[in-house]
Amino acid sequence: MTISRAPISVFVLFLLSTVLPHHLSLGAPITCSGIVPMKHRTEMLSISDFGAVGDGKTLNTNAFNTAIDRIRNSNNSSEGTLLYVPRGVYLTQSFNLTSHMTLYLADGAVIKAVQDTEKWPLTDPLPSYGRGRERPGRRYISFIHGDGLNDVVITGRNGTIDGQGEPWWNMWRHGTLKFTRPGLIEFKNSTNIVVSHVVLQNSAFWTLHPVYCSDVVVHHVTILAPTDSFNTDGIDPDSSSNVCIEDSYISTGDDLVAVKSGWDEYGIAYNHPSRDITIRRITGSSPFAGIAIGSETSGGIQNITVENITLYNSGIGIHIKTNIGRGGSIQGITISGVYLEKVRTGIKISGDTGDHPDDKFNPTALPVVRGIMIKNVWGIKVERAGMVQGLKDSPFTNLCFSNVTLTGTKSSPIWKCSDVVGAASKVNPTPCPELTTTTQQGGSCENQS
Ligand SMILES: *[C@@H]1O[C@H](CO)[C@@H](O)[C@H](O)[C@H]1NC(C)=O
Ligand SMILES: *[C@@H]1O[C@H](CO)[C@@H](O)[C@H](O)[C@H]1NC(C)=O
Ligand SMILES: *[C@@H]1O[C@H](CO)[C@@H](O)[C@H](O)[C@H]1NC(C)=O
Ligand SMILES: *[C@@H]1O[C@H](CO)[C@@H](O)[C@H](O)[C@H]1NC(C)=O
Ligand SMILES: *[C@@H]1O[C@H](CO)[C@@H](O)[C@H](O)[C@H]1NC(C)=O
Ligand SMILES: *[C@@H]1O[C@H](CO)[C@@H](O)[C@H](O)[C@H]1NC(C)=O
Ligand SMILES: *[C@@H]1O[C@H](CO)[C@@H](O)[C@H](O)[C@H]1NC(C)=O
Ligand SMILES: *[C@@H]1O[C@H](CO)[C@@H](O)[C@H](O)[C@H]1NC(C)=O
Repeated sequence: MTISRAPISVFVLFLLSTVLPHHLSLGAPITCSGIVPMKHRTEMLSISDFGAVGDGKTLNTNAFNTAIDRIRNSNNSSEGTLLYVPRGVYLTQSFNLTSHMTLYLADGAVIKAVQDTEKWPLTDPLPSYGRGRERPGRRYISFIHGDGLNDVVITGRNGTIDGQGEPWWNMWRHGTLKFTRPGLIEFKNSTNIVVSHVVLQNSAFWTLHPVYCSDVVVHHVTILAPTDSFNTDGIDPDSSSNVCIEDSYISTGDDLVAVKSGWDEYGIAYNHPSRDITIRRITGSSPFAGIAIGSETSGGIQNITVENITLYNSGIGIHIKTNIGRGGSIQGITISGVYLEKVRTGIKISGDTGDHPDDKFNPTALPVVRGIMIKNVWGIKVERAGMVQGLKDSPFTNLCFSNVTLTGTKSSPIWKCSDVVGAASKVNPTPCPELTTTTQQGGSCENQS
């Protein structure tokens, strides 16, 4: 260990402060704490001890791989090991994490991806997608990857993980991508994951992607990517359960948070839902949607709670999206406390969004959308209030809009609806007749499920 005593004691104090039971203090807001047990790491290593140089030029791939191999093979794994990344800019190729570890970025620490698109390693497609999301076949592995892991924390004092996505965005723009772009951080088939107090920026593709995971907590993260970097979603909980996301600022080139569960016939066959997810106190702006459900929803999406979201300069506030051929059901979605400023469409629920993996999708596999409650929405400078469009052969039912006030810049924003049944109470401007059939079956704000 070559880290001096002072910084260690400082960050140990910081770690201790993060395990104190915040929820005991009176009047504090509800938080994700308690979902993933906090571990006190008994072993600490510094990436500097593995020869890493934070000069922004030296390639540190070996240092990361050697340090993490050492953690993987260490014998006191139940307590786990903290890998400390000091101040500095650490250039590296993609690397894999291991179980029972904390990747700790000090104040001013930057882990930066090399812009080596030619040598970037590939990994298999996800079974619930059947192929890469953008290109057929395999896909580039995420910059930081975790597969089959338990008990992993990425945290610190607001250090940065930078995907340097520019060459990848250009390949997408020029149509020269061979395979699907790499995400920044992907956890696959993993449990007990915490990501907090880091800045995640310039991902080549989706930024933080927990897929086939459970017990995932994300809080106090800042996610940034340019508005014109297409497909740089912020956080995509995908076929995952017991996920809690809160207190974060996200501003990217695509949806800020998008809950997914697989794509058409592959997602239907894999049949792995996203469920029991809470998203609260997210602020930011997106050229697409602030909070999205879909459009990949084939494994089903159930019991999602979204609260206290603030969005400005965005395309769509809340977007629930699916398509013919998706199958799956979207049920038990509760969204409340949404503040919108300067958005094109306040609320959109659509049955014709997103493309298909191939032409083998089953056109009779219609999604079921029922039990969506959207309440306490306040929006100003909203161009269109709501677009709520189900499917002719599978109308969306049990939709409820309550206490929704949206104002435009000049005229009152309009609602547009088709193939939906729902209820509305205290909604201004007055929504379409499809959403005021309060007595008809499926049109009630009661018994949402
Ligand atoms: C774990 O490793 C650390 C440092 O290598 C050592 O000090 C500690 O005693 C070990 N703990 C156990 C339980 O073996
Ligand atoms: C772990 O234990 C095994 C045998 O018990 C030993 O061979 C190995 O060197 C130990 N590893 C470490 C990192 O101490
Ligand atoms: C990272 O893990 C993937 C499997 O998830 C594997 O294919 C790849 O070889 C690993 N990379 C390294 C550098 O160990
Ligand atoms: C998921 O990870 C566990 C280890 O945590 C492993 O035993 C299992 O085979 C993995 N499942 C898949 C489908 O990869
Ligand atoms: C990290 O950033 C968050 C969000 O900007 C801020 O609330 C927090 O105080 C920062 N923490 C440290 C240790 O700088
Ligand atoms: C719904 O999800 C929340 C977590 O977001 C969980 O606490 C609750 O138990 C779930 N409800 C049901 C009925 O599973
Ligand atoms: C949402 O915001 C309201 C008003 O600021 C506050 O009273 C409530 O506690 C917040 N709820 C959550 C879950 O943050
Ligand atoms: C209606 O929604 C607004 C905006 O979220 C909120 O401030 C207000 O308390 C809500 N009213 C009721 C009666 O819940």
